Amino acid sequence: MKKIAVVGTGYVGLVSGTCFAEAGNNVCCIDIDVEKVEKLRNGQITIYEPGLEKLFKRNVNEGRLTFTTNLEEGIKGQEIIFLALPTPPGEDGSADLKYILSVAAELGKLLKHDEFKVIVDKSTVPVGTADLVRKTIIANGASPECFDIVSNPEFLREGVAVDDFMKPDRVVIGYSNEKSKTIMGELYAPFVRQGNPVYYMDERSAELTKYAANSFLATKITFINEIARLCEILGADVDMVRLGIGSDDRIGKRFLFPGIGYGGSCFPKDVKALVKSASDVDYNFEILKAVMNVNAEQKVILIPRILEYFGGDLSGKTFAVWGLAFKPNTDDIREAPALEIIDDLLSKGANVVAYDPEAMDNVKKLYGDKIKFSNNQYEALHGADALIIATEWNEFRTPDFDKISSLLKNRVIFDGRNLYALDMMKKLNYYYSSIGREI
Ligand code: UGA
Repeated sequence: MKKIAVVGTGYVGLVSGTCFAEAGNNVCCIDIDVEKVEKLRNGQITIYEPGLEKLFKRNVNEGRLTFTTNLEEGIKGQEIIFLALPTPPGEDGSADLKYILSVAAELGKLLKHDEFKVIVDKSTVPVGTADLVRKTIIANGASPECFDIVSNPEFLREGVAVDDFMKPDRVVIGYSNEKSKTIMGELYAPFVRQGNPVYYMDERSAELTKYAANSFLATKITFINEIARLCEILGADVDMVRLGIGSDDRIGKRFLFPGIGYGGSCFPKDVKALVKSASDVDYNFEILKAVMNVNAEQKVILIPRILEYFGGDLSGKTFAVWGLAFKPNTDDIREAPALEIIDDLLSKGANVVAYDPEAMDNVKKLYGDKIKFSNNQYEALHGADALIIATEWNEFRTPDFDKISSLLKNRVIFDGRNLYALDMMKKLNYYYSSIGREI
């Protein structure tokens, strides 16, 4: 059993804290948001993540998972302190380290000379942050012997975060001190019992590993999106090409689904930050610049098609939008393609009726009554001129087409996620526009 503090109860902090507690550790999560901490203390979960609530409640009830707003109280007696704080993009695209460095400064004042603590960067942070955190802690009064910095990036995906955390493909630990290597190895041992590797490396390599992983995946998605564009011009089917290349182990089947671009809180931010980090050291990361440009176009790739279908004029037209979250099984709408499509439609004078199983509350906060929301996927279709599919929630995969046909004004679907078979759509007599396949 380890005694752990987790600073920051956002997505990564709350999942990590809960999962460490689930493995039998004693975890105190710290956050400056008083209201949030009050909720969490009362056993109320603050994010939507399948499977998390059950573990969260159990560990809160059993006293292994506690919450506080007081950093001093939260780190008292803990051997490991995780920093799971936001690193939002600054104006120039670089990761803004203000939250991490302000907590580091606080820790510098609080760390005791006769205790050793491992301070772990869990957030996605640019290369060199471990050094910066170390310097900040020392500059604020702590002696270098009473702590060590470890870089331990997190690779979990929203929607399957619990599984990803409990059974990680790999654990990456950047360290420079044998003592903290041992402590981190002991902490993660229960999570890699199936034999998945723990890679020990220097902190800089660990920090870069995280950016390289996300940027590579964003590039893979963008590559297939460009192949999809070419398929449309050449009369090929991207879903066939995807299968044809993905069965080669060196390429792999996963993350090759074409669509309306990647979104979320990680890929867009991390690609941008890596490009900026590279340019800070005079390296022009060309491939990632192209990825950003292609993805920006991809997010609104359906718009010209919609315009063309409706003769260039969308004013007064109504569009049903299925899916608002940036991907299924989350209520997260950060950088969601759906929102860009909606903004574009609204700017062209169209009306939007949206449905999403989890993300509507978040969108309501942003859009108010600029768009309408429906209680279920079919209600959104009443009298709509076309249906747009922006997120591949399971419930959209095999819908009742008779119902859809009776509710929509026209049999027209713009599908940004390739959910339906082309021959079926032809048989049903739909105008069906998807990504990288014939109309
Ligand atoms: C991503 C990474 O997958 C995680 O490993 C990483 O830990 C996380 O970022 C992070 O840095 O915290 P996440 O943002 O939750 O996880 O979502 P993904 O499942 O990776 O999807 C990202 C985007 O790519 C979504 O918009 C999704 O629709 C899109 N995507 C994904 C595609 O367009 N095609 C695909 O084949 C796969």
